[in-house]
Amino acid sequence: MQSLWYGRQYQLANNRPYQSAIVSLLLDVDRRARAPLHEQIFDGVRARILAGELAPNVRLPSSRRLAADLGVARTTVLQAFDALAAEGYLVMRAASATRVAPELPVEPLARAPRRPQAPRPPRLSAVARTLAALPPGTPRLGTAPRAFRPGCPALDRFPTALWARISARCHARASAALLDGGDPRGLRALREAIAAHVSTSRGVRCTADQVFVTAGTQVAFDEILRLIVDAGDQVWVEDPGYLGARHAVLGARALPVAVPVDEQGLDVVAGRGLAPRARAVVLAPSHQYPLGVMMSLARRLALLRWAAAARAVVIEDDYDSEFRHHGRPLTALYGLDEADRVVYVGTFSKSLFPGLRIGFFVAPPSLVDAFAGARASLPPPAATLDQSTLATFIADGHFASHLRRMRVTYRERGEALRAALAADCAGALVPLPCDTGMQLVARLAIAASDTAVAARAAALGVEVGALSTYAAARKRASGIVFGFGGVRPAQIRNGTRLLARAIATMRS
Ligand SMILES: Cc1ncc(COP(=O)(O)O)c(C=O)c1O
Repeated sequence: MQSLWYGRQYQLANNRPYQSAIVSLLLDVDRRARAPLHEQIFDGVRARILAGELAPNVRLPSSRRLAADLGVARTTVLQAFDALAAEGYLVMRAASATRVAPELPVEPLARAPRRPQAPRPPRLSAVARTLAALPPGTPRLGTAPRAFRPGCPALDRFPTALWARISARCHARASAALLDGGDPRGLRALREAIAAHVSTSRGVRCTADQVFVTAGTQVAFDEILRLIVDAGDQVWVEDPGYLGARHAVLGARALPVAVPVDEQGLDVVAGRGLAPRARAVVLAPSHQYPLGVMMSLARRLALLRWAAAARAVVIEDDYDSEFRHHGRPLTALYGLDEADRVVYVGTFSKSLFPGLRIGFFVAPPSLVDAFAGARASLPPPAATLDQSTLATFIADGHFASHLRRMRVTYRERGEALRAALAADCAGALVPLPCDTGMQLVARLAIAASDTAVAARAAALGVEVGALSTYAAARKRASGIVFGFGGVRPAQIRNGTRLLARAIATMRS
């Protein structure tokens, strides 16, 4: 049997745009069949015309080409075409292509060529369906930040010109090794600079060999969980908490267990009651997201005791605790760990800018080989020239200076927001304490849902977060999440006035 599939587009002579112009002509000829070949071709073409697959005026392949493709004599094809023309299905003119007749002798079953049915999309995994139903961890909006987008640093204070100079120098002096790609764990110079920085500023004593550069926190979570958990394992996450953590746990096919957070941080006793044999916990002990609380020492020690006994891994998200508004930043949980349980995760998304997409994690000595082994066959985690620029920025002291300046900036912006909320939203919002970072949560003092307030504010051009969207058990949390890092003091007052207007419309 000889089968042919023609899928070609023919522009009509009168330039009507591809009307019925896709010729899809599947022809079979079977040499062992009783019916002569010319009859088989006749039947095949006629059937496609009647089915509407070959529409009026559509041009057919030439008899020569069809004969060659089917492996039959040209006269056989011409015999079939002549018969089709005689019955009014085709129009054949000398020196012109054979076409389907504009008026058919019988009504075709379908006038227009049948559209191929939209193919059913491939089946998605249960994880993909679950993730699609969740709000994104960190919405990357690709638009200029507005008051009060949560999570946005002071991009207006970033020393762009200095960064550009260092970057140009790194490009100009790039070695062949740098251009070639580099170490899958990250550039050595960057890992050394990070190790030195976190050892002194965060109490994370480590060597460059323990540092793994990543494309940010989310990627670090994914990578760590892939090594630590199996499908169906339980992992504690904070409730309310960073949605990115929940996403990463689900992405690893593990089960997030929502452990409540109070004014002392994650409730370890509650966690032990809910899932005593969880394999890991993801938390931000120095500056909980979004509530902003700091985990008490008693809770930190209780968490480490549980992790040591349960052989669980503590994934410490230290995203912005460098920005303590007054006094020195607190030492990280990693520094208290004596049982090699804590993996410390850092990011430059807050301290520099999110678009840089560089973060890192510090593995405890017992896990370094496992992480290095997993990385060995992967490409470098970030562009080597960006890594080199960042390494120089840190090693030359610019990072430390920038952090010092940003601490003052965030203190000023936080205070400006508090003052503006007191002036404009006093009866409706009660701010929680905020001494670190660039977000503030306010409880609602009016009978309205936080999502409704956020939606009303958005309609007036103010971006705020609804605390309940960060919570697994919604009743536990209701409030408004403000990001003040990216908002100049002058814009802050404008934002709170608009917010007050939005709230007023809900009261009336
Ligand atoms: C709690 C928390 N951790 C980490 C990050 C940083 O994520 P990334 O490094 O992937 O940009 C954010 C960003 O908003 C965050 O809110």
